[in-house]
Amino acid sequence: VIVTVTLNAALDITYEAPRIAWGEVNRVEAVHARAGGKGINVARTLRQLGHEAVVTGLAGGHTGAAIRTELRAAGMTDRLLPMGCESRRTVTAVSREDGAVTALNEHGPAVSEDEWRRFADAFASFLPGADAVVLSGSLPRGIPDGAYAELATACAHYGVPAFVDASGQALLAALGAAPALVKPNREEIAAVLGEPPADHAGALRAAAELRGRGAEAVVVSLGEDGLCAHTPEGAWRATAPRVGGNPVGAGDAVVAALAAGFVEGRSWPERLRSAAATGAAAVAEPAAGGYDEPTRARLIDAVVVERA
Ligand SMILES: Nc1ncnc2c1ncn2[C@@H]1O[C@H](COP(=O)(O)OP(=O)(O)OP(=O)(O)O)[C@@H](O)[C@H]1O
Ligand SMILES: [Mg+2]
Repeated sequence: VIVTVTLNAALDITYEAPRIAWGEVNRVEAVHARAGGKGINVARTLRQLGHEAVVTGLAGGHTGAAIRTELRAAGMTDRLLPMGCESRRTVTAVSREDGAVTALNEHGPAVSEDEWRRFADAFASFLPGADAVVLSGSLPRGIPDGAYAELATACAHYGVPAFVDASGQALLAALGAAPALVKPNREEIAAVLGEPPADHAGALRAAAELRGRGAEAVVVSLGEDGLCAHTPEGAWRATAPRVGGNPVGAGDAVVAALAAGFVEGRSWPERLRSAAATGAAAVAEPAAGGYDEPTRARLIDAVVVERA
């Protein structure tokens, strides 16, 4: 099984309306409510890819209960721990007439020191028997910057590879805990190294730099320009044909495919081919979390993987 951690789980609500106008009463035609947050999005993609996904992290209040109900209904294993505060919601309003998408994302609760400690202790109990762990997403208030570093250190202790998708100090700290992989995007590279990569060569230099700070492998995602990887088997580029749609969550799909490919024992070029196709197929899927299966099937052989 692959364990995914979501410390700031959310209930993602999507409203679809023929037309949405500010300052007016808008009639909503369809409402969707799904469990979200990056780790949960990764778990949803893993499940689609045929892997058992265990979801852990923190969830509280009525919103936490709704998150747990939906993720169980979607076939994921719920191992979220309760917390005192209410989990956050995100609201996305989609206006069909002009395709405009407006998102209102709550911050999320402040987690107490005690709740974080309880989570960190419980986390270790998931590690015996785990094939991989995915640590994804921003840290809620109250959780220290070193949180992913601490969890990745526990993974290393049990010999479980940790896949980290984080930003800023949380990412920098995690590098020191020898994660199997980190997957920064352009903005995340800029935040930790001072400037965004200008091109593929710049992305590879950034990947090499982060690898030098302790990650076993670094995959930089460059939106529609694809992926650059610095790995123990060498440096690679993978690019899928461009796809239109909603790019939010494409990175989560990439992380899920890379973890799945690792657990399946695939070579780096195969993992990157799958990751680029799954990322593109996630763009074709309107909601974040999961991917459009026909698109992935169509693109998997069209991805170009080359040594860099
Ligand atoms: N329009 C697109 N067409 C084809 N492939 C895409 C497109 N957008 C993204 N991808 C693929 O998905 C990968 C991940 O996208 P991106 O770099 O935007 O991730 P991200 O910024 O981490 O996203 P998020 O954090 O919202 O999940 C890209 O590296 C690329 O392989
Ligand atoms: Mg991302």
